[in-house]
Amino acid sequence: MTTSTRAGLLSRCAPCRPQATILLSHGRVSGSVTHPWRPQWVARVEQPRQRGGMVTSTDLFPGQWQPQVVLMAALEIGLIEALLDQPRPPARVAQELALDERATVRVVSVLVDAGYLEQRSDGVVVAPDARALLDPADAAFVGDRLWHLHDLLRRWVQLPEVLRAGGPARLERTPESLRAFIGSMRVGARERARPLADQLAALFPATKTVLDVGGGPGTQALAFQDHGWQVTVLDFPEVIDLMTDDLARAGIAVIKGDATRAIPAQGFDLVFCGNLFHSMSPAECASVAASAAGALASGGALAILDFLRGTGLPSSLFAVNMLVATSGGDVYAEADYRRWCEAAGLRDFAVYDVMGHSQRLLTAGKR
Ligand SMILES: C[S@@+](CC[C@H](N)C(=O)[O-])C[C@H]1O[C@@H](n2cnc3c(N)ncnc32)[C@H](O)[C@@H]1O
Repeated sequence: MTTSTRAGLLSRCAPCRPQATILLSHGRVSGSVTHPWRPQWVARVEQPRQRGGMVTSTDLFPGQWQPQVVLMAALEIGLIEALLDQPRPPARVAQELALDERATVRVVSVLVDAGYLEQRSDGVVVAPDARALLDPADAAFVGDRLWHLHDLLRRWVQLPEVLRAGGPARLERTPESLRAFIGSMRVGARERARPLADQLAALFPATKTVLDVGGGPGTQALAFQDHGWQVTVLDFPEVIDLMTDDLARAGIAVIKGDATRAIPAQGFDLVFCGNLFHSMSPAECASVAASAAGALASGGALAILDFLRGTGLPSSLFAVNMLVATSGGDVYAEADYRRWCEAAGLRDFAVYDVMGHSQRLLTAGKR
């Protein structure tokens, strides 16, 4: 992936842009998309079949994850980039990229059938509907999401071993995997960043300053800025280093740190923790809730976006995701969050649905 690709990722998503909802995100697919843009090939990879409430997908080739794996490989190998604008017969593109012709022809067939590529008289080319999502130079590019999915798959297939020995699954963390993770988080947040900022603005209309803990990807921070709020992002040093240019360009202040150790800032009207608590152990969650409360001005509020235990398949799947990916992370119950907030001296604990998303918004205020 080029540097310009990543630079483009923070760009604000214009309302008319396709949203990155082709991807299995936390087990949830694009059924709740509100965006009018919806190519056919999105519809083809969603919804496991259900019978009597039970997921019945035991087919070897259900067509739910394989098109994404094929697309992931095609992006990685440069096949998609080669076919962005110029139609070419599969055999010719195989020759140009020094790929195995037999493999290329079969992979191209899937890409055509899934709607990512289009067959023309002079060869295959990226389908117009898919172009923005597959062009590394476009802000709507979903490659990082797929690369992160690749890492997730490598963890998930180790589940039998995790069942025997406990988690997490073994996977080396590389600079590339961190970039893919952060890029994937940006894709995941695009759709919900603005509505969530609106929801928080309605709940806490006096807000002027926000601390976004674990907000390194920057997507939510930009949506907060659109409300005229002064935004500070706290994240691990390596994440801030990765994002520093984009965040600085957007005028977002940064703090490098580990929230489980300390939140070295105070006086904020709102402290937001989006998809952060699930990566931590219960003791770390309690500690971060207390530090977050300490970072609030009186009258301020802590807002947590996360999965809640017992809210269905996306939540139980995500708990397994945390099992294979972290040593202490989990999906926690509403009662856990209430206890951590109350122990931190926060009041008026409340839980809200987030339109179209499996996660919940949990809030508590500081007197
Ligand atoms: C799953 S991502 C969520 C990103 C974003 N908040 C969102 O909701 O899309 C979690 C983020 O929290 C950061 N993070 C995780 N643990 C942290 C910690 N202990 N201190 C600071 N940042 C942390 C990660 O680096 C990552 O940027």
